[in-house]
Amino acid sequence: MSRVIFHHPTGSPQASAQEGGILDTRGRPMRDLRISVTDRCNFRCTYCMPREVFGADHVFLPHEALLTFEEIARVAQVAAGLGVRKIRLTGGEPLMRKQLEVLVGLLAGLRTPDGAPLDISLTTNGALLARKAQALADAGLRRVTVSLDALDDALFRRMSDGGVGVAAVLEGIEAAVHAGLAPVKINMVVRKGMNDAQILPMARHFRGSGHILRFIEYMDVGNTNGWRMDEVLTGAQIVRIIGDEFPLEPVDAGYRGEVAARWAYRDGGGEIGLITSVSQPFCGDCTRMRLSPEGRLFTCLFAEQGHDLRGLLRMGADDAALAARMGGVWRARADRYSELRGTAHRDHKIEMSYIGG
Ligand code: GTP
Ligand code: 5AD
Ligand code: SF4
Ligand code: SF4
Repeated sequence: MSRVIFHHPTGSPQASAQEGGILDTRGRPMRDLRISVTDRCNFRCTYCMPREVFGADHVFLPHEALLTFEEIARVAQVAAGLGVRKIRLTGGEPLMRKQLEVLVGLLAGLRTPDGAPLDISLTTNGALLARKAQALADAGLRRVTVSLDALDDALFRRMSDGGVGVAAVLEGIEAAVHAGLAPVKINMVVRKGMNDAQILPMARHFRGSGHILRFIEYMDVGNTNGWRMDEVLTGAQIVRIIGDEFPLEPVDAGYRGEVAARWAYRDGGGEIGLITSVSQPFCGDCTRMRLSPEGRLFTCLFAEQGHDLRGLLRMGADDAALAARMGGVWRARADRYSELRGTAHRDHKIEMSYIGG
């Protein structure tokens, strides 16, 4: 393939202000709320929670520090009033939080000012999904994204270090389909020298399955993975590797601000996505607010500091006060870390295991 085109639409984000909601300093509306429900995980992915750092003596947040499901739902309702339309539950591993389906049920009951339900999805490592998929779907979950970095079982176990094999994750994916959560998105983080030889086996496996495989450029999130640029395989390189075996053609973005650039197999075998936050950052369309497990708002995946909301919630603040706080944080937002990477040095970024993808 000689030419590589990525589709990150560049239309003015201001236009969506007409759809209601507030804008940050760069004219971006708040459309998504990504909620991390726990800082715990049953995996120890080497690039996210290396066991040397997150070992047996690591102190996780105590339960009483976490927002309750009712508190989370309240934040989500206020966010919907400010323009949020999509909710994604993350972690850590969100299925480690007991009875997550109860939270899904509360979120499914929320409405936008126009009376529409929110789009509720979940990002999981899949280990507990076979057990939970039906209850989550019954509670109102719409979509699920499963992380899977390799099909080779030994490599997968080495990378994820959770005592769980590939088969359990594939069972989780099938259970999700069975529960009506299809199409499932599969996220593979590609780290050069580690799992890049798995790109083609993964593409071959998921081609024609109805699932959407997405390749994520390895990012410098957190402080523990010792990220180096030469471990990044770019989306363009990945498209070339797959395109040599299975011809691909670009597909238009499904909606403005879609994170993944979409490519379809020319023979109708479905589509893949490329998440190019290193080689082609998408900060210009970033409409994502993030809520941490203990109720801090973060306006960027690479932020160093959050803005506490739990204090307000627990002192009995009304919805107007919560909206003023959330709106104020969003209006002041200027983040575009991925666009500044290399010039913006950060000493203490938040961990992916704390704020989720
Ligand atoms: P849907 O389109 O709603 O399915 O979600 P999505 O495309 O945002 O996908 P998902 O939430 O699964 O995000 C996929 C991956 O993209 C994450 O795990 C991150 O690695 C990366 N990502 C998502 N949002 C951001 C972001 O705001 N900034 C950066 N730098 N990376 C992001
Ligand atoms: N770079 C890119 N993606 C990452 N994820 C975790 N750490 C990184 C990183 N350094 C991904 C996980 C999962 C999602 C929650 O975020 O693999 O797919
Ligand atoms: Fe791996 Fe996700 Fe757990 Fe991090 S939060 S250790 S990426 S499974
Ligand atoms: Fe959004 Fe920050 Fe990611 Fe840019 S780096 S897309 S501003 S979360």
